[in-house]
Amino acid sequence: MKTSDENNILEVGGLGVSFRMPEGDVNAVRGVSFSIAGGETLGLVGESGCGKSVTAFSLLGLVPPPGEIISGSIRYRGREITSLVEDELRSVRGREIAMIFQEPMTSLNPVLSIGYQIIEGVRRHFDIGEKKAMDVAVEMLSSVGIPNPEKRYHSYPHEFSGGMRQRVMIAMALSMSPSLLIADEPTTALDVTIQAQILDLLLRIQKERGMTMLLITHDLGIVANIADHIAIMYAGEIVEYGRTADIFRNPLHPYTRGLFDAVPKIGGKRKRLKTIPGTVPALTGIPTGCVFHPRCPVGSAECLESPIELFGFRRGQTARCIKAGGRRVTSAKRASG
Ligand SMILES: Nc1ncnc2c1ncn2[C@@H]1O[C@H](COP(=O)(O)OP(=O)(O)OP(=O)(O)O)[C@@H](O)[C@H]1O
Ligand SMILES: [Mg+2]
Repeated sequence: MKTSDENNILEVGGLGVSFRMPEGDVNAVRGVSFSIAGGETLGLVGESGCGKSVTAFSLLGLVPPPGEIISGSIRYRGREITSLVEDELRSVRGREIAMIFQEPMTSLNPVLSIGYQIIEGVRRHFDIGEKKAMDVAVEMLSSVGIPNPEKRYHSYPHEFSGGMRQRVMIAMALSMSPSLLIADEPTTALDVTIQAQILDLLLRIQKERGMTMLLITHDLGIVANIADHIAIMYAGEIVEYGRTADIFRNPLHPYTRGLFDAVPKIGGKRKRLKTIPGTVPALTGIPTGCVFHPRCPVGSAECLESPIELFGFRRGQTARCIKAGGRRVTSAKRASG
């Protein structure tokens, strides 16, 4: 078990989130553990539906019903988030931990001006007057590259393009000076040039402020230049974790390798991109043992015998695969949780 490190801003341990559905519990997040050191970026990567957003919502106490956190701990600066009541959570949200949501249009209120929405958040958390809050809003809009911020301040969300709306979302999140920023697919809806601009912007602001970041994406390419560490998530579990350079140089889990094979490479011979056969398992009936087994090119019967642990290889790189040299969870460990 990893010991607590005082450099860590966030420590998540054994997080479990389930949705209680009429057809059975959907175990969307199972035994997820990771930590992020202050000022660092963790890239959380995985296919659609693997549990990235649900993990992020847990950190803010925002898992939508019928979902609930059923196990584990989330410590933010040493403080347990899972036991906070709604009022306490509200003071953490935005000011301490801010989130850029996956859907910028649905997260902005269409009938309120952009400036008003930024000010509202700032004044909820800081004891400052309207004029000062307006200055903060204009300054933030300017720093995320919105031209004529004094004028655009009065505009409504529909008057902005997708890229500009995403910038507004970032301005809103940053206006609270959060220590930890969760960016959930901040660029998925945008074309590649805007995508690069937004990522550069996040990186620059992060450096300037020493902000800690959890960057969520389904795209390994996006985290390559931004993340210090990467956690690969599959069907509700972290299957590999490590320093970005190590994962790129030497991916250990067959799923991570599959993700790399699905990324086009410049140079090299042109060949068909590989896809990972099969689909993500239904989260109601998770197989015992390795969850990736049904789609795994190297899997065999022994992979299904018992749960596989996130095994440490070198320099902190861990993977949940016995074929890569990992181990099964021993019965003693299972008994002690
Ligand atoms: N409101 C909900 N009700 C029931 N199940 C849900 C709900 N939200 C999420 N889930 C379940 O949790 C799983 C993980 O969802 P999540 O939104 O975290 O995926 P994701 O990794 O963020 O995917 P994407 O890349 O598409 O955003 C889903 O596959 C679904 O089974
Ligand atoms: Mg998501």
